Amino acid sequence: MTKTNPILDWLHRDDKIIATPEGYDVVSAADLAPGKPLTVEENGKPYRYDPDHNTNLVIRGDAYDALEGLAQLDPAMPAPQLIYIDPPYNTGTIFKDYDDGLNHAEWMGMMQTRLQALQEQLADTGSIWVHLDDSEMAYARVLLDEIFGRDSFIAQIVVEINPKGRQLDRYFAACHDYLLVYAKNKDKLKLEPGTTKAVNPADFPLEDKQGRYRLLPLRNTNKKFNPRTARTMAYPLYANEGTGEVRTSPFDGAQEVMPVFGDLTPAVWRWSSATAYVRRNELIARTVRGRKGPRLDVYQIDRMHPGRRKKLKTIWPSKEIGSSDSAKLALRKQFGEDVQFATPKPEPLIERIIDSATEPGDYVMDVFAGSGTTGVVASRMGRYFVMAEREADTVKQHIRMRLDRAGIDYQELVVEPR
Ligand SMILES: C[S@@+](CC[C@H](N)C(=O)[O-])C[C@H]1O[C@@H](n2cnc3c(N)ncnc32)[C@H](O)[C@@H]1O
Repeated sequence: MTKTNPILDWLHRDDKIIATPEGYDVVSAADLAPGKPLTVEENGKPYRYDPDHNTNLVIRGDAYDALEGLAQLDPAMPAPQLIYIDPPYNTGTIFKDYDDGLNHAEWMGMMQTRLQALQEQLADTGSIWVHLDDSEMAYARVLLDEIFGRDSFIAQIVVEINPKGRQLDRYFAACHDYLLVYAKNKDKLKLEPGTTKAVNPADFPLEDKQGRYRLLPLRNTNKKFNPRTARTMAYPLYANEGTGEVRTSPFDGAQEVMPVFGDLTPAVWRWSSATAYVRRNELIARTVRGRKGPRLDVYQIDRMHPGRRKKLKTIWPSKEIGSSDSAKLALRKQFGEDVQFATPKPEPLIERIIDSATEPGDYVMDVFAGSGTTGVVASRMGRYFVMAEREADTVKQHIRMRLDRAGIDYQELVVEPR
């Protein structure tokens, strides 16, 4: 029997779930009518992308219809380097702005249809970030594995979106959401999930004329790696105990140093000998008092240079990225009590994602735009955006208002259901 990757099965798995004015409809791929073109909101004329003028787009219409409209553009727009989506979580709640209660299979079909279209549009170097909570996260992850490939999985980030916890929950007071991050192609992926803000000077306790630094063992501390599993990484270095100088070949006053664990069993270095040669001035030898007596070991001098980025961890606390409450408060302060979107995301969260996944000038796409947080932040950071939002009232009352208030130029387009 051939073994295949496990996949999910549900009613209408092989069909497309398309938007209708009232909700969604199931259509077999064979009967699917072609998507309608994107038209300009002010005059109803077909939209043409001008490659000489990058532009921000807000598309009023369903995500799938919008993606089909974008796919028809000739010339095509640049592919988005980042797709962030914050679709309805399927919590069963009917929010003032949108209904968040599809049945499970319908939600799966709705997402599958749209994720497949998103996968096609994402840049080869890009990543997709899908924001969900426990209602559907596990199913979405398997779906993403299938559409993007298990090998393309990058991270599942826990976002502390509600630090107080939802006290009305039945058993536990849920306080987190998830970000599922996938690459289009891991070999080409451009992604630097780091932040300069998170670098803590206290992590660099030593100081010399060049500034603060710390010493990191050059030895690979992971016991999985040893001369049997990583043969080429076990080689001798040569070090002078008095001066701390380290070289890859013998020199006067030097002694040989091999990588060993604390119990003196053989270990390996983290750098190849070629890297150790090129970066030899970043190495220093120190005498350590190990369990089996003093011995010479080799360290990397790791400096806290300005602009240094610290790798982001996979739990994002609300004190770093804001919360649902802080996002609502920020909007209330800007626009007053009357204009409140039910589920806005905090701007610092979106800023962190955009900073990790894009460079200035890149395109960012969000086809479940809500109040338009992604566009506002992307533009502030010098990126372009393409947003789609199904609810006309949300586009009018929230997206337009936020973009206009921020003085952001954009073109508003419409796509009709097919
Ligand atoms: C959770 S909200 C997004 C909130 C947004 N991230 C923000 O910061 O304001 C989800 C949005 O997706 C929209 N939506 C739901 N289904 C959609 C679809 N099929 N196509 C486009 N938008 C959709 C809803 O109307 C809602 O505004």
